[in-house]
Amino acid sequence: MKFYPCRRLKGQITIPGDKSISHRAVMFGSIARGTTEIHHFLQGADCLSTISCFRQMGIQIENNGSSVLVHGKGLRGLMPPENILDCGNSGTTIRLISGILAAQPFTSTLTGDASIQKRPMKRIIAPLSQMGAQIRSLHDNGCAPLEIIGSKLHAAHYLSPVASAQVKSAVLLAGLYGDGETRVTEPYVSRNHTELMLGRFGADIRTKDTTAILLPAKELYGQKILVPGDISSAAFFIAAGLLVPNSEILIQNVGVNPTRSGILKVCRDMGADLTLLNENLESGEPAADILVKSSSLHGTVIQGALIPTLIDELPVIAAMACFAEGQTIIRDAAELKIKESNRIETMVRNLSAMGADVEETEDGMIIRGGKHLHGALIDSRADHRIAMTFAVISCLADGETEIADAECVQISYPGFYEDLRRLATM
Ligand code: S3P
Repeated sequence: MKFYPCRRLKGQITIPGDKSISHRAVMFGSIARGTTEIHHFLQGADCLSTISCFRQMGIQIENNGSSVLVHGKGLRGLMPPENILDCGNSGTTIRLISGILAAQPFTSTLTGDASIQKRPMKRIIAPLSQMGAQIRSLHDNGCAPLEIIGSKLHAAHYLSPVASAQVKSAVLLAGLYGDGETRVTEPYVSRNHTELMLGRFGADIRTKDTTAILLPAKELYGQKILVPGDISSAAFFIAAGLLVPNSEILIQNVGVNPTRSGILKVCRDMGADLTLLNENLESGEPAADILVKSSSLHGTVIQGALIPTLIDELPVIAAMACFAEGQTIIRDAAELKIKESNRIETMVRNLSAMGADVEETEDGMIIRGGKHLHGALIDSRADHRIAMTFAVISCLADGETEIADAECVQISYPGFYEDLRRLATM
């Protein structure tokens, strides 16, 4: 797909529903009693993979476009799937479902696309095995396909070496079926949507510093869930609005949970003109409208506890750093190497092709801003966040930018290019 520079971005936009929250609403709804009603559900391919997996386990799910009804059958109501469960491109689907399947009275097999079959699953196999689960990587390489023989699970206190909400959530979901209190301690707090939503479904769950603590549940109960806009998707419009001169964008009802909204802090540290309006808790998660105005940015350092709060936004933050004055350092972000693509390598290679001054480090990048970027052929590696990042850069780069596998944005934001075009004045 080909992209060209634009003069400015103006208007209002409603961002599709949060991907993490949409997945969890379907999963928790499926193992709750009664109907869960989900509004502003993300109709991206990843969340549709989650719906398809639970349908295959006998859960009736009505998908009416923007709203979804999940007719849950309780903690012990899932049926053995007849086929292999296909998680597509979705790390959240495969890792979180594993925690649930580990405790079911049946055997199941999980797989996904080529990218998913390369992503590390030992990070969930290890803690779940500690709880008594029987999970086998069928190719014996620590990756999917995974065979899960449902077992009786014990409680555990898992000290996670990584700050990962997928790992934490897999252990907590298994803990629902455990025989005592399950704890997960992380080096830094990762996104806490599981903790917030499980509490609403009736689980006994609390948080102390970087530890989540859960008691086994007798039953969860269906809920009405209003999904806020996904800040990880809004990030592309935040970046575009800040970078393209004379722009002003109002991004409506975006989730700004502090465990997710590190990008707002980084933008402000870089000198951005961002205003939060209409702050509310209507969805059970903090949300707000974000008013973005073009700003001149300067470099910053991004590291430590901030990293898990903006992990999916680091590609587009690296893009902003290219247009900022001075140097930006991203460190402690080795997790980027094992996302949908190796996002450090993919960003450095493609940014360099456009003329940026960017250096790959072991756990991040060093970007010296202010170089003039020109159009190039971008290899997105079929990674949705990479494709969207370079569509944003194309608004500012000279000439034509061509993005290979651009349609991969359907994973998390099916209408992304249309929304970007609508706001752009050519
Ligand atoms: C997610 C957690 C993060 C994030 C992913 C979604 C989730 O992954 O990158 O896009 O919904 O829990 P990790 O838990 O591996 O950091």
